[in-house]
Amino acid sequence: MSATNSSGRSSSTKNRILTALQKAGSGFVSGEALSRELDISRAAVWKAINSLREDGYVIKAVTNRGYRLLVPEETLTEESIRSSLPSRYGDLKIELFDTLDSTNLRARQLASEGAAHGTTVIALQQTAGRGRLGRSFFSPRQGLYLSIIVRPDFDLSRYATATAAAAVAVSTAIDSVCGVRTGIKWVNDIYCDGRKVCGILTEGITDFETGQIEALIVGIGVNTGSGDFPAALADTAGVLSGSYSRSQLAAEIISGTLDLISCDKNSTFIESYKQKSIVIGKDIQVYKGRYRLSPDDELQGIPAKAIDIDDDGRLVVQYGDGSREALSSGEITIRL
Ligand code: BTN
Repeated sequence: MSATNSSGRSSSTKNRILTALQKAGSGFVSGEALSRELDISRAAVWKAINSLREDGYVIKAVTNRGYRLLVPEETLTEESIRSSLPSRYGDLKIELFDTLDSTNLRARQLASEGAAHGTTVIALQQTAGRGRLGRSFFSPRQGLYLSIIVRPDFDLSRYATATAAAAVAVSTAIDSVCGVRTGIKWVNDIYCDGRKVCGILTEGITDFETGQIEALIVGIGVNTGSGDFPAALADTAGVLSGSYSRSQLAAEIISGTLDLISCDKNSTFIESYKQKSIVIGKDIQVYKGRYRLSPDDELQGIPAKAIDIDDDGRLVVQYGDGSREALSSGEITIRL
């Protein structure tokens, strides 16, 4: 027998409805589906929804779509992020903005003023988010946009793998905090359920006198907002829905990225990168020299097969004539 609350309504029905709404994340569940799955009448669904509302849950109802649980927006503060960071990063400098043009631009400015390794700039919205290959990065409110200044004490040749290290760290953090399973599309896109939920842009800061890279800015944009993407992104972009802590996510991304970028051996994360790759073994198109500026750009790539990721994070591809190449930058799409 199921337990009943003071109003006599079955609390197990309420719990099951709540679980179904939580599972749907930012999606809607129809009253019809709830009534069918729980084997109860539509009136019982409606009563349970109202009872959940009385308990304080905010449930939106839209005709022809159903019900959606609105998760209260967590207030992200420097303190809430810091409290989730491991103690070894207790002294890290964090700048948090509601809105910024681009966290990478602000981090660049801080780096040129001498900001320390690990200094992180976070914004919840960007008005001029920068993407790879000169593109812009759509950065609506309630997202998580961060840039980490990295001044590693290792030899410059390993800068090339910094993006791969960041991709593994970010994917791992999302999996653990959001309870999902993400994969990495070479070189730096994080995918969940076939949609891009995060992009990473690593930029180097060069010392003009020595010509040497003196710092890296690792810019990470995670789609944690509403998911109202412009038409050009509607088929490819995804959002991390459900209830999770963005402070925890930010903290695990920062600590994981700094840990992996500073680790002694590439092999530690290259193996994880390979395991998380959604590209190895797939038929792909390789774009070199000129890149597609939008998903509907008609530019044709070169057909190839993705074979492996080498120890330097390069994608090893094989072309139709059997020749192989290790790509260190550029763009690919997966052929369906
Ligand atoms: C891409 O997918 O092309 C890379 C996108 C990188 C976006 C992030 S958001 C935080 C940081 N600030 C920026 O302006 N860009 C990066």
